Amino acid sequence: MWGGRFAGGPSAIMREINASIPFDKALWRQDIAASKAHVAMLAAQGIVSAKDATAIASGLDAIAGEYAANGVPENWDLEDIHMVTESRLAELIGPAAGRLHTARSRNDQVATDFKLWVRDAIDQADAGLRALQVALVTRAGEHAASIMPGFTHLQTAQPVTLGHHLMAYYEMAARDRSRFADCRARLSQCPLGSAALAGTGFPIDREATAKALGFDAPTRNSLDGVSDRDFAIEYLTCAVQCSLHLSRLAEEFIIWASQPFGFVTLPDSLSTGSSIMPQKKNPDAAELVRGHSGRIVGALTSLLVTMKGLPLAYSKDMQDDKVPVFEAASLLTLCLAAMSGMVEGATFRTTRMRAAAELGYATATDLADWLVRQANIPFREAHHITGAAVKLAESRGIALDALPLADLQAIDARITDAVFAALSVDASVASRASYGGTAPQQVKARVAEARVALGLE
Ligand code: ARG
Repeated sequence: MWGGRFAGGPSAIMREINASIPFDKALWRQDIAASKAHVAMLAAQGIVSAKDATAIASGLDAIAGEYAANGVPENWDLEDIHMVTESRLAELIGPAAGRLHTARSRNDQVATDFKLWVRDAIDQADAGLRALQVALVTRAGEHAASIMPGFTHLQTAQPVTLGHHLMAYYEMAARDRSRFADCRARLSQCPLGSAALAGTGFPIDREATAKALGFDAPTRNSLDGVSDRDFAIEYLTCAVQCSLHLSRLAEEFIIWASQPFGFVTLPDSLSTGSSIMPQKKNPDAAELVRGHSGRIVGALTSLLVTMKGLPLAYSKDMQDDKVPVFEAASLLTLCLAAMSGMVEGATFRTTRMRAAAELGYATATDLADWLVRQANIPFREAHHITGAAVKLAESRGIALDALPLADLQAIDARITDAVFAALSVDASVASRASYGGTAPQQVKARVAEARVALGLE
């Protein structure tokens, strides 16, 4: 394709280091779509004849059929998907194939193809996140009033509802979707027609190709058009943030599924057994989601370092943009599906969750608040009195509201029978009815809003 000025061919090492076809063949659909848009524009502008354009377009369709049926052939001599396709086109339609590359370069071609690919990856992430949200709101609706311990420092803090806890992840997924949507809006400028770096002397219509490929507009600067990979970096930052959320959720399931917690039984379909310990059911899918987030962070780091310090415009380093993005996208799709399945299929052991909240003295703050409100005791003193009550209950291995009134009054005479209404975990969560709080009524309201936002109602 470029042999004109060369006396000798590339060495085996050169061919190997140069070839991107083993991975960029994943761009074949985008490459054919962009070529079809380009040749239709070339014909409309009178740059190639209608006859040649028709031959090129039907040749590209035939190649798409071949790729779909048999995969893309990997010929290292042809370097990349652009040359593999163009050379096949020449085999199919003859010399007219050579007119396709008028007024473009592989530099604007690859930037365009990759943007189209990333745009599809964003749509796929959005669909996966939506499915996760549906699973979360469904389970949150079932468990709007199921009590569990809420933690800070992974120490029992105050009772919350399981629905509230699950809806926290719904909010994270909502932010992830909005970040991906921002990224999609910003990538919507088409590089095609930037040519190698400087634009072209041919009378091309960049608006037309941008529109045909579903972009909002052409890129405004040809140097930037061919060398911008912000969209890929931005996609990866969105993927990283999303994968961190998935990793945190996975970690919750891993902890909850451990025997000392026993808050959840994971679906068999997303667990594995041990070859030596017959009693074991391991949360491997959740652990791999947690692990894969590290690889997605690595993908972002890889592309950041590749791009750092590259002068304008295209440099071959940029060929290394694809592998990390492809890897991150496929890992993210898998992780989203695994976590949706886990949320859908988990059996929540609400009796144990509730018992853990009761025995963890999660309502100690409620006792202190009651002393402040009902007995007009300063909070610091109330905190001290409550500590004594917790110590006593703990020494007997019972819940706070199982302490007899006489014992509570021995700690502080101002405590009355009315305190028990505040000490139950149900009273505690019901009292936290501030907007966004854990009260079942608040959780139900947020679930109802979320179902409308998801188009489920
Ligand atoms: N395979 C190349 C890449 O992925 C395509 C662009 C090559 N351009 C060039 N001038 N060698 O970046």
